[in-house]
Amino acid sequence: MTDRYAVIGNPIGHTKSPLIHGLFAQETRQDMSYTAIEGPLEPHDAFAATVRAFIAAGGKGMNVTAPFKLKAFAMADERSERAALAGAANALRFSDGRIVAENFDGVGLVRDIEVNLNLPMAGRRVLILGAGGAVRGALLPFLAAQPAELVVANRDIAKVRALVEQVASSGPLAACGYADLEAMGQFDLVVNATSASLTGDLPPVPPSVFSPAGSAYELAYGKRLTPFLRLARNAGVLGIADGVGMLVEQAAEAFDWWRGVRPQTRAVIDRLTVPLD
Ligand code: ATR
Repeated sequence: MTDRYAVIGNPIGHTKSPLIHGLFAQETRQDMSYTAIEGPLEPHDAFAATVRAFIAAGGKGMNVTAPFKLKAFAMADERSERAALAGAANALRFSDGRIVAENFDGVGLVRDIEVNLNLPMAGRRVLILGAGGAVRGALLPFLAAQPAELVVANRDIAKVRALVEQVASSGPLAACGYADLEAMGQFDLVVNATSASLTGDLPPVPPSVFSPAGSAYELAYGKRLTPFLRLARNAGVLGIADGVGMLVEQAAEAFDWWRGVRPQTRAVIDRLTVPLD
């Protein structure tokens, strides 16, 4: 029987996940379907009921996107360590009557940076902007890549301090505000994980953090040259990238987790890439 998978979110109209997983299934010859479900925002427990109805109809797994990542995490029976630190799930697996929560956003991001863009983070100075869900999911995978230093900057300093304190691992991790960045010199990699680009805004990052020989990465994708990437380019940074590779890599991680086979990602990334300018 064809195994059923889906992505759930609201709104869900612009999701690329069915296309990505459809291409993966074709390439790896998996007998599966993958659809998009618009999850209900109200009442409070309607999301969980929708997931349970999908399981009852033979669902084997789901990707979860905004605004349901916290609810998906909360309803799980088991949670991975990185999902637990993020407090959020972007993938669920249903087996033996149990719901298992994972979060592949951070590993997908690290894989895109290190493998696809060929920018190993070991021994490098890395700066992440933001302290929301995207950053919570990324901290453990980033530390595992062994940067010399990992600085996380946010407007709300108390929030970023609390987040960093939550990370049990005593890696070279520091939290700060944007004004503190002026005195910190250049970073080899600057990652914009704030939601500023979604509204065309620029986080108040000083251009002094960019190194012309370094790189800048924007988590948003398909938005061409965002104000953040433009700032980096104007500071002389040649290596700039958006999050399309992360999107495809987190999907590949979930696919492997569900199906036990790792799909190729290069051709799918190329197909979805929108030129930056
Ligand atoms: P996500 O799950 O996408 O990370 P989130 O949890 O709502 O979304 O977090 C959004 C992040 O983007 C926050 O870190 C927010 O900063 P504050 O915590 O200081 O509010 C950050 N952010 C949003 N708009 C921003 C802007 N214009 N400049 C700088 N940071 C911004």
